[in-house]
Order: sequence, then C-alpha cells, then structure tokens
Amino acid sequence: MAKLPSSTQIIPDAPSVPRHIAIIMDGNGRWAKKRFLPRVAGHKRGVEAVRAAVRACADRGVEYLTLFAFSSENWRRPLDEVKFLMQLFVHVLEEEVVKLHRNNIRLRVIGDLSRFDEKLVQLVKASEEKTEKNQTLTLTIAANYGGRWDMLQAMNRLQREHPEKAGNYSEEDLAPYLSMGDAPEPDLFIRTGGEKRVSNFLLWQLAYTELYFTDLLWPDFDAKALDVAIASYQQRERRYGRTSEQLQADAPQRGAAGA
Ligand code: IPE
Ligand code: IPE
Ligand code: MG
Repeated sequence: MAKLPSSTQIIPDAPSVPRHIAIIMDGNGRWAKKRFLPRVAGHKRGVEAVRAAVRACADRGVEYLTLFAFSSENWRRPLDEVKFLMQLFVHVLEEEVVKLHRNNIRLRVIGDLSRFDEKLVQLVKASEEKTEKNQTLTLTIAANYGGRWDMLQAMNRLQREHPEKAGNYSEEDLAPYLSMGDAPEPDLFIRTGGEKRVSNFLLWQLAYTELYFTDLLWPDFDAKALDVAIASYQQRERRYGRTSEQLQADAPQRGAAGA
C-alpha cells in the first residue's frame, strides 16, 4: 500500500479548495419533526442533500468526500428506524451507482460490514468494483463505522501481518491499515445539526482537520451552505504546531488555507 503523508510527521500542504471534506450529516430527525413528519422522512430528504453535496464537491474540485451515514452507535436506535436506514441504503445503492459511475465518481464504503445482511454486503462490493477506476471524486460512505473500531481493526490486522514488529509499531506502519488509509487526511470537517461533537467519526484522521459546525439541519444543507463552510475554512491559519510568524515567513507557498 502506498504511504501517504501524515499531518503529525510532516507539514502537509494547505490547499485552498479542501482536497478532502468529511461530513457528519446530522439533523434529519429534527428536520422531519419540525414538519410533523416521521423521522424517516428526514432520512429520505437527507439523500437529496447527499446528491447535492456530491455534485457540489465534484464541481469545486474536491477529491475526497467522506460522509457519516450510520455510526456503530446508531444500532441503539429504535429497530424500525434502523431497518428503514438499511433499506434506504440498499435502495440508494441500487438507484445511484449507475449515476455515480456515469459521473466518474468512485464509491467506497467503510465500516464494519459484518453486521449487515449478505445482500447489502454484495451490493457494496459490486458498487465498489464497478466504480473503482473512476477519478473525479472519491465518495466514501461510513456505515456501521466508528473511529475506535477503525483503530482497533487496523491494529489487529497490523499485528497479524507483522508480529515481528509488535511493541515497535510506528504511525506509518498503522496508517495503511486504517479504513481511509489510501486517502489524504480531511482538510475540512463539517457537522450539520448544531451539535459540537465528533461522535466517534474519523478519530485518527481528524488530528489536524479544520472543524466547522453549522446549525443547518442536513436536509437543508446545499451548495450555498457548502460554499460558506469552504469560505470559513479558507480563513483558517493551518499552523500544524508552528507559530504564526513561522507560517508567514514560509509564505507564499504556505499560509492561511486559502492563501
Ligand atoms: C442523522 O440525522 C442521520 C443518522 C444518524 C442516520 P439524525 O437521525 O441523527 O437526526 P437528529 O439528530 O435526530 O435530528
Ligand atoms: C452521528 O449522528 C452519526 C451520523 C450522522 C451517522 P448522531 O445523531 O448519531 O450523533 P449523536 O448521537 O447525536 O452524537
Ligand atoms: Mg442526530
């Protein structure tokens, strides 16, 4: 597996347009409740916001878009809602993969698929294979994903494959085993729905990601809202541990994310 730069090992570029955006799509239930609709109506509308986000990211030259669709803790929800979300996932895969492929978008799914039924697992595999050579944008859906699960599965696989190094593993040894091992770390993290927490999303990869929170509920998040988030990101000074003065001295190659 190819090695990618780690933000804690080297100072990465701070691209003006984020190369990788990771989103916690939150607020579907509240969106529905506000309209006196069942929660699941919010999930349905959320799919439209996903389509809009994928299109907008591709148009803006974002290379990786990672969406948190179902967390390892979301099994705690009422059974009916969990079932609906699974069916929606299957339905969306069946409906959308052809369109993604036509638009040269690569689809990946990360998370512990062992809890999903066989039909869904096969569908995921087939969708990934169909789109694997596409290059416009890599769309990663995190399903039954948890940041802690990810670190543990990576550690366990690394240890199985390299028992001789146990006790001396480095960041570089571990990184390729993580679910997002072949993607750059996210430049921008967005969470809709007003909560200011990471909810066990990409714990390892968010080390130096710029965090952006909005009160907009996910079904209301559109291309304009994405631009507001990107504009906020472009105001940030990504210091990666250095001082502001060091950063200025290093300009114009580096600087504020948008410089
Ligand atoms: C996010 O919306 C979608 C999933 C977690 C599947 P929520 O369903 O969490 O919506 P709220 O937070 O209850 O409004
Ligand atoms: C986070 O949203 C997970 C997803 C968006 C899939 P939640 O709504 O489950 O998060 P908490 O429970 O409020 O932290
Ligand atoms: Mg929520």
